[in-house]
Amino acid sequence: MNANELRRKYIDFFKSKGHAQIQGKSLLPDNDPTVLFTTAGMHPLVPYLLGEEHPAGKRLVNFQKCIRTGDIDAVGDFSHLTFFEMLGNWSLGDYFKDGAIRMSYEFLTSPEWLGIPHESLGVTVFEGESSTSIPPDDESAEVWRKLGFSEDKISYRSRADNWWGPAGVTGPCGPDSEMFIDMGKEPCGPDCAPGCDCGKWLEIWNDVFMQFNKDADGKYIPLTNKCVDTGMGVERTVTILTGKKSVYDTEIFAPIIAAIEKAVNYSYGTDEEKDRSVRIIADHARSSTFILGDPKGVSPSNVGAGYVLRRLIRRAVRHARKLGSEGRFLAEIAAVVVDEFAGPYPELRENIAFIMDELNKEEERFLETLQKGEKEFEKLLPNLLKDPKKIMSGRLAFKLYDTYGFPIELTEELAKESGLTVNRAEFDEAFKKHQELSRAGGDQVFKGGLVDNSEITTKYHTATHLLQKALQQVLGQHIAQKGSNITAERMRFDFSHPAPMSKDEIEQVEAIVNEQIRRDLPVSMKVMSLDDAKTAGAMALFGEKYESQVKVYTIGDEALGIFSREVCGGPHVEHTGLIGKFKIQKEQSSSQGVRRIRAVIA
Ligand code: SER
Repeated sequence: MNANELRRKYIDFFKSKGHAQIQGKSLLPDNDPTVLFTTAGMHPLVPYLLGEEHPAGKRLVNFQKCIRTGDIDAVGDFSHLTFFEMLGNWSLGDYFKDGAIRMSYEFLTSPEWLGIPHESLGVTVFEGESSTSIPPDDESAEVWRKLGFSEDKISYRSRADNWWGPAGVTGPCGPDSEMFIDMGKEPCGPDCAPGCDCGKWLEIWNDVFMQFNKDADGKYIPLTNKCVDTGMGVERTVTILTGKKSVYDTEIFAPIIAAIEKAVNYSYGTDEEKDRSVRIIADHARSSTFILGDPKGVSPSNVGAGYVLRRLIRRAVRHARKLGSEGRFLAEIAAVVVDEFAGPYPELRENIAFIMDELNKEEERFLETLQKGEKEFEKLLPNLLKDPKKIMSGRLAFKLYDTYGFPIELTEELAKESGLTVNRAEFDEAFKKHQELSRAGGDQVFKGGLVDNSEITTKYHTATHLLQKALQQVLGQHIAQKGSNITAERMRFDFSHPAPMSKDEIEQVEAIVNEQIRRDLPVSMKVMSLDDAKTAGAMALFGEKYESQVKVYTIGDEALGIFSREVCGGPHVEHTGLIGKFKIQKEQSSSQGVRRIRAVIA
C-alpha cells in the first residue's frame, strides 16, 4: 500500500457510494482572514457545512493538501509533519451517523478495499458533557454494536478526544467517532482501551458529526442541516497499513530522504541526532515545495504565510548545516518532491521554475544571515554562560533578530545547545513593540476562527466583485485577481497590474463601484458547468482549480445591464444597495507585478 494506491482506493470507494469527487483547494485559504493555511479537508467546505448549496451535490469526496504549523517544533520525531494530505468524504445534510459509520467500516474491512481484520479495530465515541448539556453519542455506539463491536472495543471519551471543531473560534463542530487499529501490544493497564495513547491503539480515521455551529458567544447552535465530515491522513494510514515504525520509513518519504542523504553526504540511520535533522529537512522541504508550488504561491517574507515559509526553509537549511552541508541544496530536494507528487498535484510541475528560484534565493539570503548571526552569538556566549540561571535575555535575542535578521527560533536552538534558555516573553514584548513602531503588525493573521459568513463580510465579498470589474474598466482587461482577504473591518484585494495607480484612477474605480451600489443591482446565482460559465463570460480566479459544476454570481440583470459575472462559492448580498459606501484607503505594491488595494465600506 502506498499513497497513490490509498488515494485511488478511497476515491473509488466513495464514488461507488454516490459521492462526487471535488478538487482539493489551494493551501492558502481564500477570504479567511483567521488562518494562514488550509488545515483540514473540511476547511474549504465550511460554507457548505453551514448550509450553502454545493454545486457538486450532497455527497462529496476528495484529497486535500494541508499544512498545520502548531506542532512545528515537534517535527523531527517519528510522526509529526507540517504538510500532510487528508482524504475526506462529506455528507451535506444527506446521510448521518449510521450511513457514515457503515461506509467507514466497509472501506476499512472489506477485502476489496483495505481488508483490515474486524478483530484489529476499536472505536471511540463522545461521552457527553454536562456543562454544555450535550448528551453521550449513544447513536454512534449503537451503530458500531450492530456492526459486531463488543463493549470493550467501544470506548466513550471526553471532548479532548472525541469532539472536533470548530477549526478556530467559530464554525461547524460536533462529536466524532474515531477508528483505531490494535497494534497487538499488551494493554498498558486495566483502563487501556481504544483511544489510549500508550501505543497499542493507533488512530486511522475520524468521522465528525457536524451538529452544531459554535457562535461568537461560545454558544452551540444546532444545525438544521446535519453534516458529516471525515478525515483520514494519508501519511499516517500508509505508515500503519505497511507496519512501519514511522512515516519517514514509508515509500512517501523514501525518495526524499535518499535525496537528502546524497545532498548532505550522510547515511540515514547512523546517528540518532543526525537522523532527526534529516527528518526535519525532509518534512520542511516537502512543505516549502508545496507552499511555493501552490497556484497562489507566496514568497518567503516576514508576515503571514510568507513568514512560515521562510521559517521552514531556514530551519531546513540550518539542519543541513548541522549535517555538514555548506552550500545550497534545497532545490535538489524540491525536484524530487515535484517528481513524486506532480501526479496528484500537477501545479507543482507547472510552478517548478518559481519553486527553484525562490528556494535558491532564500537559501542564499539565509546563509549570509546565519554566518553573521552565529558569529555574533558565539561572541556573546562566554558572557551568557556566566549567568547562574543560564538565561539569555529576550532583549539580547531581539538584538540578534533586529540587527542581523537572526530568527528567534534559531537563537533558541543555539541557546539550547549550550544549555541556555531564552527569555521568550521578554523577546515577544520587544518584538511587539518593534512591530507597533514599524506598523508591520497590521497584517498579522491570528490563529483560530474560520470562514466568517457574517453580514458585514458578505457585503465585503460582493464589493470585491464590483471592485474587480471596476478595475478592469479603468485599467484594462489584463486585471486578474491574485488573492483577496476579508475581515469584518476591511478588505484587501490583490491584482495583476504593472504600475502604481494614479490618484485619478483610484477615484474613478471608487466612483464606478459606488455607482453600482447606488443602482442597487440584483445579485443572482446559478449553478452551471465550468465551460458554460466561461461561455457566459464569467471571470474565474487564475490558477484556481474548480469543480466541473460551479456557482456563478451575476451582479445586474438583463433589464439593468449585467455589471459583473464571476465564478465564486459565495455567499453574497442579494442586492448591491446593501453594501454601503465604498472607499479605497490604500493602493500599494504587493509583489512584483501585483498591486494591493485596501478598502473599507461604511
Ligand atoms: N475535520 C476532521 C479532522 O481534521 C475530519 O476531517 O480530523
